[in-house]
Amino acid sequence: MIHHKHSLLLLILSLFFVTCKDSGTGSEETDLEPSLRNSPTFPVGYAIQRTHLDDFQYLQLLRNEASSISAEYEMKMNPMYNNQNAVDYGIVDQIVGIADELEVRVHGHALLWHSAVPGWMNSFSGTDAEFESLIEDYVKDVVSRYRGQVASWDVVNEAFEDGSGNPLRNSVFRQKMGDDYIEKVFRWAREADPDVLLFYNDYNLAANGSKLDAVLDLADDFIARGIPIDGIGFQMHISYNWPSEQNIMLATNKVVSRGLQIHYSELDIRVNPDGASDSYTPELDQRFTDRTEFIFNFYKNLPEESQFGITWWGVKDDDTWLRDFWDNQNEWPLLFDSEFNPKPAAQVIIDLFE
Ligand code: XIL
Repeated sequence: MIHHKHSLLLLILSLFFVTCKDSGTGSEETDLEPSLRNSPTFPVGYAIQRTHLDDFQYLQLLRNEASSISAEYEMKMNPMYNNQNAVDYGIVDQIVGIADELEVRVHGHALLWHSAVPGWMNSFSGTDAEFESLIEDYVKDVVSRYRGQVASWDVVNEAFEDGSGNPLRNSVFRQKMGDDYIEKVFRWAREADPDVLLFYNDYNLAANGSKLDAVLDLADDFIARGIPIDGIGFQMHISYNWPSEQNIMLATNKVVSRGLQIHYSELDIRVNPDGASDSYTPELDQRFTDRTEFIFNFYKNLPEESQFGITWWGVKDDDTWLRDFWDNQNEWPLLFDSEFNPKPAAQVIIDLFE
């Protein structure tokens, strides 16, 4: 039923788009030939929001230029489990249904993240055993519901502190479930879906060597003890000049050497980190293009079995969370401009595969 409704919606939207284009009233966007869906040898994805999937311009772009999507926030725990009495699957069912129509992979982001804990869970007053069993049920229910539809999950996001020694963050999960909460959740996810790929995801892994070491220790320990883990997500919220190319290569290769898959899971590239520019100049665009070329070219040369894909954290420059995060500072960190036009970097990516 859901599928039929969506097929019809997509058909109507496609017809509308074609009509607009023919009559010259549509957007000026140019389709990339060939496309980012077809040219790269690994999946290229974008973070999206449910409402984007009602917008024919996003739909058209995703149909042509995406092979994977992540939900920017709707598959996190606070929206899904906002009400203690019932997990709300409505929005995620829709996202997964439309992704199926678009024939794009869905990467699940994220089962456990300290920044996406529902209010009621943070002030949970039951026993630790009760807390743990709530989390076990949540993880197993969510992962098994989307078995076969969600290809992969960020099982735990950002578990390590940035500071000295990179200890485990003292999240509510750690407090109530113990230091081994991460392995518990990976095991539950595997029980719920034997085929889904399980990722540990974090930020600044290329810039912060000791944090990467903490993640690698975790992964090595999992591998040695037979705890399921398939890959590491490097968020890749980077700048045009930071971290260095060498650090990115070094960090990535350390993960490759473990036989784990690499997901550049939340790529965005700051081109104006000092806030000096209030418009997107050719110089800034060149920074963006050069950095994009380096990232995609390096990734393309990794062993094929390590390449899970590269996901941009949004589609258009004005989608970016960074403008809020850095206090309204101007940034243009994504692959399409705010009118859905591909930036020159998009063609540069495609040309890498010609
Ligand atoms: C951000 C989203 O982009 C925002 O819309 C949301 O309000 C907060 O989260 N690391 C992550 C992502 O793993 O989930 C974050 O996404 C960005 C930082």
